[in-house]
Amino acid sequence: MSLQSIKYDPETNNLEILDQLLLPATTRYVKVRGVEDGWKAINKMQVRGAPAIAIVGCLSLAVEMQNDKFETKKQFRQEVEGKLNYLVSSRPTAVNMKTAAEELIDLANQLSKDECVGLDDMKNKFLSTIQQMLAKDIADNKAIGDNGAKEILSHVAGDSLVRVITHCNTGSLATAGYGTALGVIRSLQGKKRLEHVYCTETRPYNQGARLTAYELIHEKIPATLICDSMVSALMKSRNISAVVVGADRVAANGDTANKIGTYQIAVVAKYHQVPFYVAAPFTSIDAKVSTGEHIVIEERPDREMTHVGEHRIAAKGIQCWNPAFDVTPSSLIAGIITERGVYRPQELKEALAAVNHNS
Ligand code: MRU
Repeated sequence: MSLQSIKYDPETNNLEILDQLLLPATTRYVKVRGVEDGWKAINKMQVRGAPAIAIVGCLSLAVEMQNDKFETKKQFRQEVEGKLNYLVSSRPTAVNMKTAAEELIDLANQLSKDECVGLDDMKNKFLSTIQQMLAKDIADNKAIGDNGAKEILSHVAGDSLVRVITHCNTGSLATAGYGTALGVIRSLQGKKRLEHVYCTETRPYNQGARLTAYELIHEKIPATLICDSMVSALMKSRNISAVVVGADRVAANGDTANKIGTYQIAVVAKYHQVPFYVAAPFTSIDAKVSTGEHIVIEERPDREMTHVGEHRIAAKGIQCWNPAFDVTPSSLIAGIITERGVYRPQELKEALAAVNHNS
């Protein structure tokens, strides 16, 4: 059984999330009763990871709307729009919540203009669209996993096994299930082609040490934890086949925002001629952002750096700078692995245009 970060039952209108602040020591699910709870859980990082943020945000709206009474389609549309925009404000860097909100607002606009659709139909269609997100995310992640494994294996000789580095947490906990970069690692393991995975600690929030290590042990994937500062030494000494990380937002030119520390790994990978891959659903590509310079980087509270849990590790009085993400320039990225295929950064604009044309 893989770890489940999100439990949702449409029959009982119950949404629970695994509180990731307590992992790995304690497994506790917390109820999300509506949009306010959803916003807080995302902002506090009880749930985190770009796809999981979007799914929990949208499901929190679904839970709230099941109980709400609406007088008119116009009122429904206006409330949906306001609440979705509020959810987008919970964390600014990951694009997934924003993309999902835009799609749902478009849907609400279309349905409210369609005279053949009544208020109840509008609500049902809206809810079922949100409810489908969980299954779609898992299917996309499996496709990302297979595409990524194929890509990485295409660069190694014969049947040899691969050694991969990953950063942050991109697995079941960060998604509806299976994971993106961790999905690629799972797929390599499924094909019996993974020798070893190295996961970084991912300071300051320790998603690697707390969450990825936990998932890798749970899945019995051969893995070793390293400190963020050990990547160069590891690449020099251990013949690494590839780096695979997730993304919070990919700009149209391929520049990619991901967990702080990703950029330095990409620089080091270039130096050691190790291919560096980003694995993310196609919806993580933000056609409206031309380059990484325009991506807003969230800054988190100092306390995440100065403390581990309740324990202070930094000298009192020191100033902190705590950006949660950095941007890796596209020139350092060998490929962006999506459910639609693997793209070189320079191929993204054409891929975006093709998707827009077909939709
Ligand atoms: O701050 P977090 O833990 O939400 O950051 C998570 C990451 O940076 C992940 O790599 C990214 O969201 C992709 S998760 C599939």
